[in-house]
Amino acid sequence: MYHIKTLKQYQKAYKESVQNPEKFWAQIASNFTWIKPWEKVLDWNFTDHNIKWFINGKLNITQNALDRHAQKTPRKTAIIFEPNDPNAKTERITYLALLKRVSKFANMLKQNGIEKGDRVCIYMPMIPDLTVAVLACARIGAVHSVIFAGFSAASLADRINDAQAKMVITADGLNRGSKFINLKTIVDEALKTTPSVQTVLIKKHTQTPIKLKKGRDKRIQTELAKASDHCPPEPMDSEDMLFILYTSGSTGKPKGVVHTCGGYMVYAAYTFQNVFQYQKNQIFWCTADIGWVTGHTYIAYGPLLNGATVLMFEGTPTYPDAGRFWQIIDKHKVNIFYTAPTAIRSLMQAGLEFVKPYTLDSLKVLGTVGEPINEEAWHWYSENIGKNKCPIVDTWWQTETGGIMLTTFAGIHETKPAHAGFPVPGVQTVLLDQNGKEIQEQEAEGYLAIKFPHPAMIRTTYGDHERCRQVYFGVYKNYYFTGDGAKRDAEGRYRIMGRVDDVINVSGHRFGTAEIENAINEDEYVVESAVVGYPHDIKGQGIFAYVICAKGMGNDDQSIKKSIATTVSKIIGSIAKPDKIMVVSGLPKTRSGKIMRRILRKVAEGELSNLGDISTLL
Ligand code: WT7
Repeated sequence: MYHIKTLKQYQKAYKESVQNPEKFWAQIASNFTWIKPWEKVLDWNFTDHNIKWFINGKLNITQNALDRHAQKTPRKTAIIFEPNDPNAKTERITYLALLKRVSKFANMLKQNGIEKGDRVCIYMPMIPDLTVAVLACARIGAVHSVIFAGFSAASLADRINDAQAKMVITADGLNRGSKFINLKTIVDEALKTTPSVQTVLIKKHTQTPIKLKKGRDKRIQTELAKASDHCPPEPMDSEDMLFILYTSGSTGKPKGVVHTCGGYMVYAAYTFQNVFQYQKNQIFWCTADIGWVTGHTYIAYGPLLNGATVLMFEGTPTYPDAGRFWQIIDKHKVNIFYTAPTAIRSLMQAGLEFVKPYTLDSLKVLGTVGEPINEEAWHWYSENIGKNKCPIVDTWWQTETGGIMLTTFAGIHETKPAHAGFPVPGVQTVLLDQNGKEIQEQEAEGYLAIKFPHPAMIRTTYGDHERCRQVYFGVYKNYYFTGDGAKRDAEGRYRIMGRVDDVINVSGHRFGTAEIENAINEDEYVVESAVVGYPHDIKGQGIFAYVICAKGMGNDDQSIKKSIATTVSKIIGSIAKPDKIMVVSGLPKTRSGKIMRRILRKVAEGELSNLGDISTLL
């Protein structure tokens, strides 16, 4: 078993995981169905970053997530789907039904020319077909690349081209709160520049009329009718690619983080079970979108691998009003609730009158993810949602780590507001000083790094291994560098202080400053720009853009600001629109021409009297 239930067991497991990692992980991995057992547990080096887990093992992750449970508990609900419209009907899908649906979908992919190793891009609303599409790819060994349906046509095209995807799976449209987005027209726009795509499969969801492009576009309903609901799981090597997920770095171009079948499966299942202390028959709800890693690991894979019941929600926290989350928790008797600090802060601001109508008495465990949670929001969450009886797990991890790394185990560790907590057994985090030397003192502050691989560690960045090596393993020799700064307290508990690189975390979503600047610079009015993050009450960090415009245009010119917002929405997506734009006549630069963001950050924070060392300023 891989269930750690007490503090003593946690301590024992942690020790064992450091003393003999291979034995530790082999024990956990033996709880899964392997088509062929592995021959060696681990091979690794961080120098050219080559890690392999469960070597030569053969498995299929969907056999573990579906078939196992469809046999033992066929009638158990796997997915509860709550639509955007509160009056629309809830959908429940049992494990047996989900297995059949995934198999049928998988056969449809095959009939449309998808083979093992092909990349399939999924651009969909948060509906069960999204989970089904993801699992169907995994069933036949196709590599899924889910693109969050808030990204623009240009972003979608970039990601399709980077992965050389052969197929796009989408829908006629998407409802998010009172907003409607026509996904099909965005896909059509994107596909003008993506020669690799041969087929587009479209799910009818919003009843919006669509135009089909002959020879390329097909309706999912029609195609499914031709497919059988029996599809044997494709035997995959542990190190075969399972998925690509794009995330922003400190350069302009997003990178495709690659995860593989064996290690990711083991780690997703293990962390889900232990962090949330999931118990049989509990209902788990993670509010993330499957377009982000949180949704991959804690909606699609982790819960299903554990035979859990997972709730999936199509809408937003504030539609039809700011009580929607709490209404859903009562309606479905949700036991474990996992959301982002941004959502908590915005619902806190909406007021307690939206919480009061609901009992929330089914709740046992609460979680947060994606960004630091401030103490005020933590206490509000604990008191008003958890009624002071639910432990809060503050989970730190990254797209690159595949699953939760620093946290408390629910009900096992004491929690401390604003502190993520302790490394999960199997994870070896360290703090480094500026020279890349490990800080030995327990109480310390430094750069957060990892010195030993865990099974779900990033394998490569798609199509560019050298970039992966440089970004993560080239900064500090022999360590994976996270990009975060952190503090460690006397008990070994970590507190994340935020990014130390040129990445901004807006509402738990990552953007590179260079990526946003590149987009802004495309605007017809803009000559040059510099972007920094600044503290934002709801979003955690907001985007502050300083722009130099063509002659004669000043800060009062609203048309410039509007134009920039439109440009950024078009190039990246409206989620990356700057919160504040200031038209300036110059940017603070060093003599070598490097923008001094440190100064811009101070200005954005309103701290004009304390600009720090400006001796290198030109
Ligand atoms: C970055 C990773 C983890 C899935 C969602 C985001 C920040 C994440 C926490 C937390 C403080 C956090 C870090 C990290 N972050 N979780 N609990 N406390 N910061 O994944 O887009 O890959 O971003 O999010 O800065 O590096 P991501």
